[in-house]
Amino acid sequence: MDDFAHRYGPVALVTGASSGIGRSFATQLASRGLDLVLVARRLDRLHELADELRATHGVAVTVQQADLSDPAAPQQVVQAAATLDVGLLISNAGFGVKGPFEEGDADTLSAMLTVNCHAPTQLAHGFIPHLKQRGRGGIVFTSSVEGLIGCPFSAGYSATKAYMNALGEALWAELTPAGIEVLTLCPGATDTEAPRLQGIDPTTLQDLMSPDDVARSTLENLHHGPTYIPSEHYRAQFRQLLSMPRDAALTAMASALRTAAG
Ligand SMILES: NC(=O)c1ccc[n+]([C@@H]2O[C@H](COP(=O)([O-])OP(=O)(O)OC[C@H]3O[C@@H](n4cnc5c(N)ncnc54)[C@H](OP(=O)(O)O)[C@@H]3O)[C@@H](O)[C@H]2O)c1
Repeated sequence: MDDFAHRYGPVALVTGASSGIGRSFATQLASRGLDLVLVARRLDRLHELADELRATHGVAVTVQQADLSDPAAPQQVVQAAATLDVGLLISNAGFGVKGPFEEGDADTLSAMLTVNCHAPTQLAHGFIPHLKQRGRGGIVFTSSVEGLIGCPFSAGYSATKAYMNALGEALWAELTPAGIEVLTLCPGATDTEAPRLQGIDPTTLQDLMSPDDVARSTLENLHHGPTYIPSEHYRAQFRQLLSMPRDAALTAMASALRTAAG
């Protein structure tokens, strides 16, 4: 068994494994020999991926259908995995809503808070006792560069990711001495279903990364927490934004986004 599989295996649980970054995490973890629990709503996609990973990599894969906008779902996921030795939690499922804050649908906003904040919190809370007992393992929270500063016209989403950045940083400090790596992944624009679901043409986005590159570089940097931005372009852009007076940065962002929206 190699170091990675010993440290983070034998089982990794990935939420949002039915597409995009989560699917890439699952595929790359299987290629490193880890058994998997795949979680999402679209069961057909999970079964299709599970069959592919079993056939290609010879790993054991279980699928679990869960709608993480149901506040009870995360604890059901934890309970269903209770007999497995989960060494790596990839809390990745999430979605965003763009546009003027008050024009968004109130129920969708509520679901976004539940999926993006409540679910990762409950999953971490549920899996940490076992990780501590093992004395080794990891947690990846998929956040976003939008969590680094309040993003106009993405206010609710940006706020959910700021919550994740705070949770991830605090848990990194709490758990590092216990041998548990906590990495808060802050991708920039990534070529998944997510931009399209928000009405954005991905070809208009700057420095679009592939989900495979995001997942691969994240797994290579698991021990480089607390926060990881995979794109050099977004690292530089946010370094500059965060060095500006906050009011000037926010005004410039709002102005650019208003212009982009026409
Ligand atoms: N793409 C980007 O540009 C970008 C940038 C920064 C951060 N991110 C973050 O990256 C993460 C993954 O997104 P992605 O880009 O890979 O988008 P994606 O292709 O749309 O994947 C989102 C995943 O989350 C799952 N999910 C969404 N709502 C769910 C719910 N209610 N219950 C259970 N699972 C749910 C989806 O599965 P089902 O639909 O099958 O349930 C899907 O597997 C998200 O947290 C997103 O905020 C993305």
